Amino acid sequence: MSYAKINLGLRIVSKRADGYHNLESIFQELSLADELLIERADEFSLATNQPGLPVDETNLCTRAYRLLAAEYEIRGGLKIFINKRIPLGSGLGGGSSNAATCLKVINQLFRLNLSLPEQLRLAARLGSDVPFFILGRTALVKGRGEVVIPITFLKNYQIVLVYPGRAISTAQIFNNLEIGLTKYGGGVKFEAVIFRIASLDDLSGYLFNDLEEVVSRVCPEIMGIKERLINCGARYVSLSGSGATVYGLFDLQTDLSNIKQEFPASYLVFIANPR
Ligand code: C5P
Repeated sequence: MSYAKINLGLRIVSKRADGYHNLESIFQELSLADELLIERADEFSLATNQPGLPVDETNLCTRAYRLLAAEYEIRGGLKIFINKRIPLGSGLGGGSSNAATCLKVINQLFRLNLSLPEQLRLAARLGSDVPFFILGRTALVKGRGEVVIPITFLKNYQIVLVYPGRAISTAQIFNNLEIGLTKYGGGVKFEAVIFRIASLDDLSGYLFNDLEEVVSRVCPEIMGIKERLINCGARYVSLSGSGATVYGLFDLQTDLSNIKQEFPASYLVFIANPR
């Protein structure tokens, strides 16, 4: 399985000399997942049930295999089938998660005995969010994404994910952040306040997503989704990553059986749990 994530808060700290941004975020792995079928084969091949997903050299699974094949002694190919359930370009980390899963499986199948630090280093070369998925669960993520610190955090909630069907380019959002009027680099460090968060109601006092303003400009549906989730009883709502998925956190006892009907039929709505 290759699990999705949400960002509980995303604070942009600074722009780096290499063009990336230093950030701070609490990443939470979800029960929502893609299924990856991976087996050894003579050649490398990749297929998927999702027509919109490129299966060429740009696919992060292909890139994970090529990276490891270039760095280590790998005899033979790999046959991968991606059964996609996580929407593409949705801020839920599907591609990054697939890359981390491939990296871990290749390590096992070819008995590479890569240490955890080595896996994290390789993961960072594939994408900023990939290191988190090597560990999964809940982590404070810093730097460009390569600093992953496992933390104990709230788990007693259920999540509603609402994707308005608009794929967002993370690179474009970060670029707009530079030319836009958004102020970032302020706000209290999440790291300094995590210990004060004891219930879902505490989240909105401490966590925020610095990308929300820029993403709302290209995806105006976001505000309406947040309002609707709050009206349905969500205790905390936010954009995940660079969007366009908006999520709401609900108490475990809230009945969510009719929640999908609250949103247009063209939206994708998922109910998930934190892992
Ligand atoms: O690392 P990844 O390829 O996932 O990043 C996609 C784009 O998002 C980068 O090209 C960059 O523009 C932006 N980004 C950033 N700072 C980060 C992560 C991503 O500026 N920490």
